Amino acid sequence: MPTYHLRCRACRTPYPAADLHTCSECLGPLEVVYELEVRGAELRERIERGPASLWRYAPLLPVDEAPDEAVGRTPLVRAERLGRELGLDRLYLKNDTVNPSFSFKDRVVAIAARKAKEFGYDTIACASTGNLAGAVAAAAARQGLRAVVFVPSTIEPAKTIAPLVYGATLVEVDGTYDEVNRLVAQVAEERHWAFVNFTLRSYYVEGSKTLLFEVAEQLGWELPDALVIPVASGALYVNTAKAIRELVEHGLVRPKAVRLFGAQPVGCAPVADAFAAGADRYTPVRAPRTIAHSLAIGSPADGNAVLAIARASDAQVVASDDAEIREAIGLVARTEGIFVEPAGGTTVAGLVRLARSGALSRDAVVVAYLTGNGFKTPEAVDVSAVRRARIAPRLDAFEEALPAGEPVLVA
Ligand SMILES: Cc1ncc(COP(=O)(O)O)c(C=O)c1O
Ligand SMILES: [Zn+2]
Repeated sequence: MPTYHLRCRACRTPYPAADLHTCSECLGPLEVVYELEVRGAELRERIERGPASLWRYAPLLPVDEAPDEAVGRTPLVRAERLGRELGLDRLYLKNDTVNPSFSFKDRVVAIAARKAKEFGYDTIACASTGNLAGAVAAAAARQGLRAVVFVPSTIEPAKTIAPLVYGATLVEVDGTYDEVNRLVAQVAEERHWAFVNFTLRSYYVEGSKTLLFEVAEQLGWELPDALVIPVASGALYVNTAKAIRELVEHGLVRPKAVRLFGAQPVGCAPVADAFAAGADRYTPVRAPRTIAHSLAIGSPADGNAVLAIARASDAQVVASDDAEIREAIGLVARTEGIFVEPAGGTTVAGLVRLARSGALSRDAVVVAYLTGNGFKTPEAVDVSAVRRARIAPRLDAFEEALPAGEPVLVA
C-alpha cells in the first residue's frame, strides 16, 4: 500500500495524512503527495494486475486498504460518427455516465467514504448540486454508513428522489448551491460527521484523478493531446492536471503537453467569463440560471486554479447557452448512443465550439469527459421534433401513421 502525506498547495508545509483539510500556517488547501518504492514498467504491471475498478490505481490513491468495490473502469468510446461531424479523426468520449449512481461523483465518494471509515466516522455528509448527493447516499448504503445530504431545492426531481431511495436523509435548502455550501460549513462545526467535499476534501478530490488514469491506460499508457472537462467547483479539472503530473512523475507515461479545455454553462460561467476577459481571478456569479444545475456553482473553490492551468496548457475555458447544451445532448445521443445530462451537454457543446473554431486540430487525440447520465434529467431535453406515433393496436393504424417509404426520423 502507498505511503502518502498531506502538503499545503500554497506554502508547501507538510502534514501527516490525518483528518485535516486546511493549512494551519496559511489556510491554504492541503493535497496528497505520494512516495512510491516502485515506478515505471513495474508500477504499470502492478496496476494492470489489480481489480477491474478504480481501485487498481490504489498506489496513487490515499487509502490504507482498497475495498472490493465496482466503481470506475468505464468505457473510453472511440467516437467516429461524432468525430466525423466535428472534423476530428481521433475523438474519444469517456463515458462516466455508467458508474453505480450514474455520475463520476461515485469516484470521489469512493475515496472519501473509505477515508471516513478509516477515521472512524459513522455518518457521511455533503453539499451537492445533485449528483454528489446520490453518490454519497449510494456509497453509504454499500458501506453500512449513514448519510445526510444537502441540496438546493431547485435541482431536478430525480436527483432528490435517488438519495431518499438509497436511505439517506435529504435536506433541501431554499437557496443557491453556494448558500447550501456556506450552511454546511456551519453545520460541520456542530456535528461530528465526515463532510466528503469539505472536511475530507483533500482525499475526496483524489478520486477525480482516476478518470485520467483510466484514459491513459485505455490509450495504451499514452496521454491524449487535449481534454474537454466540465467545470463546477473545478476539482475534476484541477485534479486531472494533478493526475497527469503524477503519471509522468512515476514513470507511467511519457511526458506530453496536454491541453486542458474547460466547459461551463453561460448561465453560470464565472471561470469562462474570467478567461474571456483575460482576468486572473473570477468574479462570483450570485444567481446562476441554467439547465445545467449540476454545474451551477457561482463561487468555485478551484476556479482561479482552473484559469491558470487553462492558460498554461494553451487551452481555453468556454461557455455554451442552454439551447446549445440541449442540442449537444441530442447530438451525442444520436451519433454515439450515449444519453448525457446537461453537464455532459455542456461538455459536448464546448467540444463543438472548439472544433468549429479551429482550436482543435483534426488529427489530435481529443477526449471529452461525459460525467452524468441523462436518465436523471429527462426534463432537460426536447424530443418534440422527433417522429413519434400513438396508434390503435392494428396494422392499418400503423400503416396510416408510418406509410412505407417515408423516412422514420425527421431531424
Ligand atoms: C455531472 C457532473 N459533471 C461535472 C461536475 C463538475 O465537478 P467539479 O465540481 O469537480 O468541477 C459535476 C459537479 O457536481 C457534476 O455533477
Ligand atoms: Zn500553507
